[in-house]
Amino acid sequence: MSRVRMTNLIEKIRMLTRVKQTHIKIIEGSKITVRDKIFINVFRKNTVRGDTDYHYDTFKIPVRRWTTVLDALLYAKDRLDVSIAIRYSCRMASCGSCGMKINGIPRLACFTKVSELEGDTITCMPLSNFPHIRDLVTDFSQFFDHHRDMKPYIHNEYADIKLEDALITQNEDNNKNKKLLREFKQTPAGVDKYLQFSYCIKCGLCYSACPTAGADVKFPGPQALAQMYRYVGDNRDNAIKERLNIVDNQHGVWRCHFPSSCSVVCPKGVDPSLGIQLLRGHLLGYSKNEKKIAELFNKDVQK
Ligand code: SF4
Ligand code: FES
Repeated sequence: MSRVRMTNLIEKIRMLTRVKQTHIKIIEGSKITVRDKIFINVFRKNTVRGDTDYHYDTFKIPVRRWTTVLDALLYAKDRLDVSIAIRYSCRMASCGSCGMKINGIPRLACFTKVSELEGDTITCMPLSNFPHIRDLVTDFSQFFDHHRDMKPYIHNEYADIKLEDALITQNEDNNKNKKLLREFKQTPAGVDKYLQFSYCIKCGLCYSACPTAGADVKFPGPQALAQMYRYVGDNRDNAIKERLNIVDNQHGVWRCHFPSSCSVVCPKGVDPSLGIQLLRGHLLGYSKNEKKIAELFNKDVQK
């Protein structure tokens, strides 16, 4: 790789870090507004039933400082209109079920306090780029298909050995086959290469924020591509070539225009656009220098 190309890549990674840090500062410094009530506009449409028009229903909800948007929606569902459709489960930003657009931005309803939002009226809409089902609920089938296409599990033929065979090999103390029993060791630096990408909860917020996913349904999207990098960057996986072939096509990794909106909305600190750039680096043959890039990058971050 030429020095110029490497410098460009490092500059892009630096820029991403700056965007991320700015975003974190905005969240940390965000204004808290304590109110005792809010109005919540809820998108209403039953696409499965064949509705062609939508409307918003407005509910007045009593709130406290720690009331989340999900709490407010559940209050409306429990006491004011039982027919509101919402998807949720854990209520603690772990399951990724409650994604929706809150005041136009993809967010987790259980992870967004009403006191952090501006204005006394909150508008909840379904996520963009997903087929709509009803009210705030969208269909994740296509999103999960893209995720599955990335083969999101470790590929390593040595990991496929059956337990019985492993025990036999151990008893025979056969040096030739001993490697079949080896541990898959990783250094802390090796884990750091992919760790942040393993925090993904598959909430789909990044996919909803991605302009390319909205324009091309065959584009795997930031979540799936970041998961692809999660396994490409894992030294226990030895199917890098096959993996890169999956994303090296006109609908694949090259379709990303690098707007980075995916990284800004992620509630778990994953940086999918960085994963996409690192995948491109592998495809362009940067991988041999990846260690060098990481060293330069770390040096820069520590400055
Ligand atoms: S990368 Fe972030 S925003 Fe995208 S699905 Fe995973 S957790 Fe959600
Ligand atoms: S309910 Fe599980 S992430 Fe919000």
